[in-house]
Parts: sequence; structure tokens; C-alpha cells
Amino acid sequence: MPAEELIGKLDGLGSEFAQALVSLSSEQDIRELQAQFLGKKGRVSALMREMGKLPPDTRRVVGAAFNRVKDGIAGAVDGKLDELVKVAEAADLERTIDVSLPGRVRSAGHVHLLTQVRNEAVAIFGELGFEVAEGPQIENDFNNFEALGFAKDHPARDEQDTFFVDDGKLLLRTHTSPVQIRTMLSQEPPIKIVAPGAVYRRDDDPTHSPMFWQIEGLLIDEQVRFSDLKGVLLHFVKRYFGEDLDIRFRPSFFPFVEPGAEVDMQCSFCTDSDSSKCRVCKGTTWVEIAGAGMVDPVVLTHCKIDPERYTGFAFGMGLERMAMLRYGVSDIKNFYEGDMRFLTQF
Ligand code: PHE
Repeated sequence: MPAEELIGKLDGLGSEFAQALVSLSSEQDIRELQAQFLGKKGRVSALMREMGKLPPDTRRVVGAAFNRVKDGIAGAVDGKLDELVKVAEAADLERTIDVSLPGRVRSAGHVHLLTQVRNEAVAIFGELGFEVAEGPQIENDFNNFEALGFAKDHPARDEQDTFFVDDGKLLLRTHTSPVQIRTMLSQEPPIKIVAPGAVYRRDDDPTHSPMFWQIEGLLIDEQVRFSDLKGVLLHFVKRYFGEDLDIRFRPSFFPFVEPGAEVDMQCSFCTDSDSSKCRVCKGTTWVEIAGAGMVDPVVLTHCKIDPERYTGFAFGMGLERMAMLRYGVSDIKNFYEGDMRFLTQF
């Protein structure tokens, strides 16, 4: 191909490029077009190879033409890219933001009311030196009943019906008292623990649920007396419910304590008004909060602790009941339904 023809073709490519560039609007498209012309296999490069066949004296002019076209293409690409940046900037500036709109707040969430009650109870007993112990929710018959004095045919079992599996050898624990047994079997006295956790019973009404939470207390040492039990529970009631509230004990039966009692505290809902109309204490001015008593020597013996040397007390309280009494919650189902209107109040 003669030199003039080559130069003519080169210039043709230059204007073809310029025309194609006009309609492009993305950097990627522009770079692609650039490669079609200037890339190794591009159209300009193909013509370059023709140059080698020319007589040496014409190569100078043709070489200059090449450089002109290449520079032209590179310059056009730069110009076009600058233009795109300016268009994008202008679009950004035109966008209006309403700074007066409320922001989107992400709510932080918080622990469930029952968890708060558990943590607070654990902290209050912690002040008195009680450590936290735990046990499984699936228990064996020995820990949940037998070792606690509920013989196989003991009528006290009737009040604590639950789910039994494996022919009754395993069950969903009906109270946190089996943690007493586990602790006494694995630790030497002095023992001073609280055991919070979920328990299960065949119970279902506005104040009872088939699954609920208890916190158990156990203290075993030399010379532990009933008055120690009273002091610990009174401290708890004053710290958790109110400084001016008293407690009382009513004789009651649990197979693993002797003497056994139910513990009441003064009703905090009816002190100011006519107590006969109080829905919480039903006019009695007292509300039940716990079962308690001195650990039966038989239980100590089951756990290989010498009852001649050691004595102790135990108590068990319902966490839902504590929350209901402190916050005036009337239906236990509120704790489990996950209704945010309820949960966010606490
Ligand atoms: N475990 C008993 C219950 O759930 C409560 C209790 C605990 C009573 C400790 C006495 C001592 O009813």
C-alpha cells in the first residue's frame, strides 16, 4: 500500500473514532472503543504493520501521521472522561436532601424482663456471698424426686406432674431443688449457692405456666439456724421489693425440709388503699413468695453429708411471680408472648 493511501486510511480511522466516541457515556465503553483502535489487535495497530513494507524514505511522514492519530485518540479519550466526571458532579449537586427528615434510629434492644429479674436476684444474693450453681432442665428421677424425699408413691409427687421420658427415668425438672442434690454430691460444705433456671409443671392459668423460672437457695454449714434463713429472705425482700416490707413464715410441707414453711411478704399493692379490695393479696395483706425450710437430715445423708455436724436451709422462689408482684403484671403469659408493647416497658 502506498504511503498516501496509508495516511489517508489512518486519518479515516481518526475521524471514525471521534464519531463513535460522541455517543458513549461510560468509562468502560470508552476504554473498549479505545482498545478496538489502539489495542494490540486494534485497527490502528494493524495499519502500523503495513508501515514496515514501505520504502525507508517515506516511513518518517507515515510515522508522524501515526503519532498524530494516536495522540488525537488519546486526547479525545481524556477529554471525554473529564466531561463524564463533570456531568456526574453536576448531577450530585442537583440532588436535594431534606436534612429536616427524622433519622432512622436503630433501637438497641435490652434483656428480657425475666432475665433482668434473674440478674437482680442473683446480684442481691451475691451480696450475701451466694454463688451461682446450675443444673440441666432434663433431670433424672433421683435428683428431682427420690433424693429429695419424694418416694415413688409419695403423694407430694402429684403436685409436680411433668413430662416423663425413658419410662420415667428422665423428666423435665419440676423445680430447681435437684440443683441442691447435684451441688451437695459434688461439693464439700460449707455450701452457699443460688440456682436460677427454668422448670416445668402441668399447670396453666393466669398465674401459672407449664414452663416457668425459679431461683433456689441452699446454705449448708455448721450451726446454720432457721433465723439465718429468715435473715437472708428478709434481706432479699427489702432489697428487691421495698425497705419497709416484712415477711412471715407459715408451716408447710415439702419432703426435703423439716421444718418446712411457705414465706409471705407484706403486700405492696394495698398499703395505701382499702386492702379488702386488693386484687393482689385478696384482702389478706400478705402475698406468698417462696417455699423454704431447714434441709432434712435424710437429704444430707443421701448426699453423704454428716447431719450430726452440718445443718442448712433451702428456699425456692418463682421469678415470674416476683416480676408480677413488683411490676403489677396480671397475666403470666405476657412474659412469653414476645409482644413488644409489653416487653419494651421494662
Ligand atoms: N422446690 C419447692 C417447690 O418448687 C420450693 C422449695 C425450695 C421449698 C426449697 C423448700 C425449700 O415448690
